[in-house]
Amino acid sequence: MAVLEKSQLLGSLEGQSQQAWLDALDELGSSMHPVDRDATRIWFAFWPLELKAALESSGDPEAMARSMDLEGEWRLEAQIDSAVAFLYGAHFWAPVKKAVSRHDEGSASLAETIRAIAIGVAAHEKVDVALVLGITAVALMTFREVGQEAFDEVVDAPARGELLPKNPERVVAKRKRESSDGLLTFLKGINRRWDVRWNERTKNGTFRAITGQDIAMAGDSVEQEYRSLDYRRTAGPVPVECRVGSCGYCWIGLLEGRGSLTEISEFERERLAYFGYDTINDNTDKHPLIRLACQSQCYGDVTLAIPPWNGELQRRHQKGRDRLGTS
Ligand code: FES
Repeated sequence: MAVLEKSQLLGSLEGQSQQAWLDALDELGSSMHPVDRDATRIWFAFWPLELKAALESSGDPEAMARSMDLEGEWRLEAQIDSAVAFLYGAHFWAPVKKAVSRHDEGSASLAETIRAIAIGVAAHEKVDVALVLGITAVALMTFREVGQEAFDEVVDAPARGELLPKNPERVVAKRKRESSDGLLTFLKGINRRWDVRWNERTKNGTFRAITGQDIAMAGDSVEQEYRSLDYRRTAGPVPVECRVGSCGYCWIGLLEGRGSLTEISEFERERLAYFGYDTINDNTDKHPLIRLACQSQCYGDVTLAIPPWNGELQRRHQKGRDRLGTS
């Protein structure tokens, strides 16, 4: 296979630190449609540059993966398209990928580059640019992490049945709508049950949690087996092992309902930092975007995304930060 000449864009992106990417998301955040504002940041947490840097810093990525106890599917190259399925912008993934691949101007700032590509795609697709800003940022980071050759490989875009509903306002409204617990809901008190929507794209993508129950335990009640899809899913759709905050299997991103969960404890905050999952969390926020399901008790409805891997980036965290110029 021919070795592709590195594009100006890729060279420019490789010079950007993790913090520069997060700053660009901050700059563009208010211009993004609410349907993908948090989802975009969650995608960046699921696929941090630290992970890429740790694997790149080793001549033997498999050995490095073992040293970080990586479990599940941690290769972004193997799931470039499916990794975006929880974003509404996946509707525009194919044209966004094409636009990123064709873009060969590397002198603008990250935010300017994201905006310029998104404006072009929005005009072509005849949609509001707010709907494609987040997915364009994701596409650029994917391009940065996997390189041109893997990015350009012909693979299937998410199928129509795997996408969120077409109307973004309805998606947002549905996330915010309080669930019903049947007749006499208002009398149920501590026995009230809440919706945990872990996959908005399927009819079976919701389970119920009793008031005060943690998300990992609530997922245990789901009868369908998910182990054949992901060997870490031994007790429902959320991967779990220890249930006490030790293993890091159960990390999740909150698309909606952060305030429906108990406040994060210092213990959970420390564990998230240990695993290296806290790259987008605000350490002053009592209800951050990234949580451990086994440490998060439900007092309302939540909508979440589940990453396909877990591990202990902490062991290589500082090395990755040094290499990428982040702090
Ligand atoms: S199940 Fe081990 S940290 Fe949550």
